[in-house]
Amino acid sequence: MQKNYGVKFLSFSGALPSKVVKNTDLEKLFDTSDEWIYTRTGIKQRHVIDKNESGLSLSVDAAKQALNKAKIDPKSIDLIIVCTATPDKLYPSMSCMLQGKIGAVNSACFDLSAACSGFIFGMTVASQFIYTGQYKNILLVGVDIHSRFVDWSERSVAVLFGDGAGAIVMSSCLAKDDELKGFILRSESDSKLDLTLDNDNIYFTDLQDQVKPDFVRMNGKAIYQFALRVVPEIAKELLDKTNMSMEQIDYLVLHQANQRIIDAVAEKLKVGKDKVLSNIEKVGNTSAASIPLAIVDALASNKIKTPSTMLLIGFGAGLTWGAAVIECNILK
Ligand code: UT7
Repeated sequence: MQKNYGVKFLSFSGALPSKVVKNTDLEKLFDTSDEWIYTRTGIKQRHVIDKNESGLSLSVDAAKQALNKAKIDPKSIDLIIVCTATPDKLYPSMSCMLQGKIGAVNSACFDLSAACSGFIFGMTVASQFIYTGQYKNILLVGVDIHSRFVDWSERSVAVLFGDGAGAIVMSSCLAKDDELKGFILRSESDSKLDLTLDNDNIYFTDLQDQVKPDFVRMNGKAIYQFALRVVPEIAKELLDKTNMSMEQIDYLVLHQANQRIIDAVAEKLKVGKDKVLSNIEKVGNTSAASIPLAIVDALASNKIKTPSTMLLIGFGAGLTWGAAVIECNILK
């Protein structure tokens, strides 16, 4: 593709709710144990929103930090994309509500739904507007509030998810300085409905019943196997496409779904533990926020060198999966 401009990543920021739910807290809700959860998933705790918080409040927090770090006036933002599968409202969109809260009065706004792959899909969609010269500054947010949509009495899904938001500012630069080295997006209809959150159980005839959206339903084993099939494959495909080798990748940043998935993929790709970012122990699976939150955590704890080349891979409901190689020149 002919690029008129390149993409520069100006900042990465994140926001987590203040309430922490530890595995030992879940032991009081259903038959589980800290030991089972930690050995099967690598998760020790997750953050969940309280009544004074929402997906919007976390998005505002993350977005304001990202704009500050990038030293970008909200009025200079041309486009806001919020990637989420769990919006506070079906409409208005999260991005329109966020626009109002941060005063980004000149931006166009839309939400993007690709579940746990949302951030990678959003980043690549945003990049197209920058490559063509249509927009200069884009605010991209990944946010999910799964605590509203898991059945807190059902142990197999409830232990996995946490709430959170991640935000980045992407800006245009010279085409030769493009920091998005390449990407691939893939989708495959989940005909067996291995990972679903239904909203189609509300009918005129049931109006008296005040039916609410359903809970997340998941065939954990099928999703596990899907991840182990597609993630190493797309990593290799993207390295081929960008003429890079795994040795040139400083950090592998996978969607934080399960530490066992992260470890197994790293092993398949022969990537050492020191090159793999992970914060799942502290936050669980934060869905569309998980990749930026893992990067923010690593930056904050000085775990990574700058500049660095990162291979980001998201996967999730849809089914969707996507990978991007980026250069990260951000210090904190
Ligand atoms: O963002 C993408 C979304 N989701 C994922 O990526 C999830 C992918 N899948 C997974 O991470 C794993 O499949 C899980 C962590 C969900 C489950 O791990 P598993 O090793 O596949 O366990 P399992 O479902 O085979 O269950 C093993 C046993 C079962 O008991 P029996 O039938 O062997 O007696 C379950 O009932 O563990 C039981 N179990 C639990 N025990 C204690 C399931 N959940 C729990 C729990 N605590 N929370």
